[in-house]
Amino acid sequence: MGFYYEKVLRPVLFHSDPEKAHDMGVSTLDLLGKLGPVCRIMESTNLIRTESPIELFGLTFPNAVGLAAGMDKNGRFFRAAPALGFGHIEIGTITNLQQPGNERPRVFRFKESDAIINRMGFNNDGAEAVAKRLKASLGKRKARVPLGINIGKSKIVPLDQAIPDYLASFQLLAEYADYMTINVSSPNTPDLRELQKEAYLDTLLGELAKANRSRAKKLGVNPTPILLKIAPDLSFQEIDHVLECLNRWEFSGVVATNTTLGRPDEFSNVKETGGLSGPPLHRRSIEVVSYISRVTSGKLPIIGVGGIHDPETAGRMVDHGASLVQLYTSMVYRGPFVAKTIARALTARQSSWM
Ligand SMILES: Cc1cc2nc3c(=O)[nH]c(=O)nc-3n(C[C@H](O)[C@H](O)[C@H](O)COP(=O)(O)O)c2cc1C
Repeated sequence: MGFYYEKVLRPVLFHSDPEKAHDMGVSTLDLLGKLGPVCRIMESTNLIRTESPIELFGLTFPNAVGLAAGMDKNGRFFRAAPALGFGHIEIGTITNLQQPGNERPRVFRFKESDAIINRMGFNNDGAEAVAKRLKASLGKRKARVPLGINIGKSKIVPLDQAIPDYLASFQLLAEYADYMTINVSSPNTPDLRELQKEAYLDTLLGELAKANRSRAKKLGVNPTPILLKIAPDLSFQEIDHVLECLNRWEFSGVVATNTTLGRPDEFSNVKETGGLSGPPLHRRSIEVVSYISRVTSGKLPIIGVGGIHDPETAGRMVDHGASLVQLYTSMVYRGPFVAKTIARALTARQSSWM
């Protein structure tokens, strides 16, 4: 399939504007997600299961490869994810207020590097609308593979009002999430990354942790695992501070990393602003994952993201300390079944250790 995608389908898709191609993909997957029996048949061949399932923060993952946030911003096609081979999916980023995102064009392909620069700016339907959609498609059931819900700050909300804004999204969406991810690392919402800094992070995480505990107590359920998604552009000293906060508030893990504002040499003449993803990000994401794993002695679960496009890059992420991996950009370049290829190789590696 990878061959046909790259030789036949990709040239057609790459003929149109990146966001239009993305919207076409989302509509196709939305339709697929509604065809339950077709999804089940596809899942039976495409969802590779590791010999022993991966147990992490109280959840069971059939394989290590997930779809990163940003592809399914509004929870429209998460039900199709296992049919493509994904062992989990993170939807969002969802903000409390519905918002249109930045002006178009806002997604740019760099085919020589298999990379993307985006400045989408959290375009999404808003937490209430997404909660309604999830209620309609899930009811009281759980998704077939763990469903992460990634939340961020609404653009018009000032930084000093960020906490009630995150809390409102958390309260609306936690019911449907197997885990929640707090996004403080997108480069495309003005000042959002300030929330990773000392002045804000501790209070934000503390309030979320308290809300999570009291919600769980009130409903008589377990607290929802909460993770934090961080930028690759933090210094190691800044990461140390983030880790202290995660430890203090007993967060379940970290998603490392989001897109980068950095530009490697081959991008020095590129004028587009926004976050860079794909292979040029991989080395820095590995450095961040490796650092976190080392300083936490491997005790903090890490979801490694950044430039994963084949078994080698995924294996490297795992070797440097990630328990799970996620990808986005390589699905655009390598096609819808890239997760299956990678999960199969990672699973074979796991079996060869046993
Ligand atoms: C077009 C696009 C939109 C994205 N939107 C989001 C988002 O809404 N929230 C988020 O946490 N990450 C978002 N990301 C970042 C990805 O989840 C991921 O962290 C990053 O792209 C690195 O992984 P990759 O190299 O496999 O793409 C987006 C990435 C792209 C390319």
